Amino acid sequence: MKPKVYVTRRIAPEALDMITEVAEMKLWTGELVIPRETLLEQVKDINGLLCLLNEKVDAAIMDVAPRLKVISNCAVGYDNIDIAEATKRGVPVGNTPGVLSETTADFAFALLMAAAMRVVEADKYTRNRLWKVPWEPMLLIGQDVHHSTLGIVGLGRIGIEVARRAKGFQMHVLYHDKTRREDVEKELRAEYVSTLTELLSRSDFISLHVPLTEDTRRMIGSAEFSMMKPTAILVNTARGQVVDQKALYQALKSGEIAYAAIDVAEVEPIPMDDPLLTLENIIITPHKASASKATRTKMSIMAAANLIAGLRGEKLPNCVNPEVFNR
Ligand code: DGY
Repeated sequence: MKPKVYVTRRIAPEALDMITEVAEMKLWTGELVIPRETLLEQVKDINGLLCLLNEKVDAAIMDVAPRLKVISNCAVGYDNIDIAEATKRGVPVGNTPGVLSETTADFAFALLMAAAMRVVEADKYTRNRLWKVPWEPMLLIGQDVHHSTLGIVGLGRIGIEVARRAKGFQMHVLYHDKTRREDVEKELRAEYVSTLTELLSRSDFISLHVPLTEDTRRMIGSAEFSMMKPTAILVNTARGQVVDQKALYQALKSGEIAYAAIDVAEVEPIPMDDPLLTLENIIITPHKASASKATRTKMSIMAAANLIAGLRGEKLPNCVNPEVFNR
């Protein structure tokens, strides 16, 4: 008999084909996120779960799924999954590192450039029929990216790719991380700064690339905004909860910082009455940084491969709690 798996959203067809070859698959095809009650019902007799960031996979889910052998997250981040609970139960959890780093870095850079050059505002200006003077010297003045200082918070796989792109713009790259990366500093021409304070106060652009953990939750709040330059531009393609969103609103509204470009929000989708949506000096995109066809396909295939390995009781190609295999 084939093992049973539940997939919480349509992913790339190549990956779904891989799964249906080896397992009996049920797939959530609803327009919105699978309701929690439905997920609790659907996981009862499954052996494998392929989920997204949208689903909270906690003890309650694992409790009702006693046959669960593997959880595969179609994302590099896994803050939606209670890893300690999965580990306690000997359930390996898979993720999709590496394949999305360059696309996510491309998008972080797109946000950085769009904010600096006010691209989104300029497009709205044209569409709103405000372009009246052929060339207006003081219209929609932005900031230079080239030769400016970029502060990268978190020099992991994605942070490194952002630094590589910054080199092409002859930016001075600062980075702050728990661990110093002397191995890549030379190649990236990146300067390590030991405190976040120093990075924030020296940077023209600040790009966040840390995972969401108890240490990084709200690591950028009102105290941190007060350390930034009034011309600073904040880019967040990491997780919304890394930033205190009310403090971000205040900082943008009061002119404490100049601009922000965020692909992630504290609550997603961002509620339509969120005050950030009333501001002109912010770009907000719907958590799409890794959304290229090639990358989303690779992520799907990697998630399917993790799921299948777990169903077979084999080591997952990418496992966040490999200690479960040492028992
Ligand atoms: C991830 O993979 O963690 C992203 O947020 C989605 O690409």
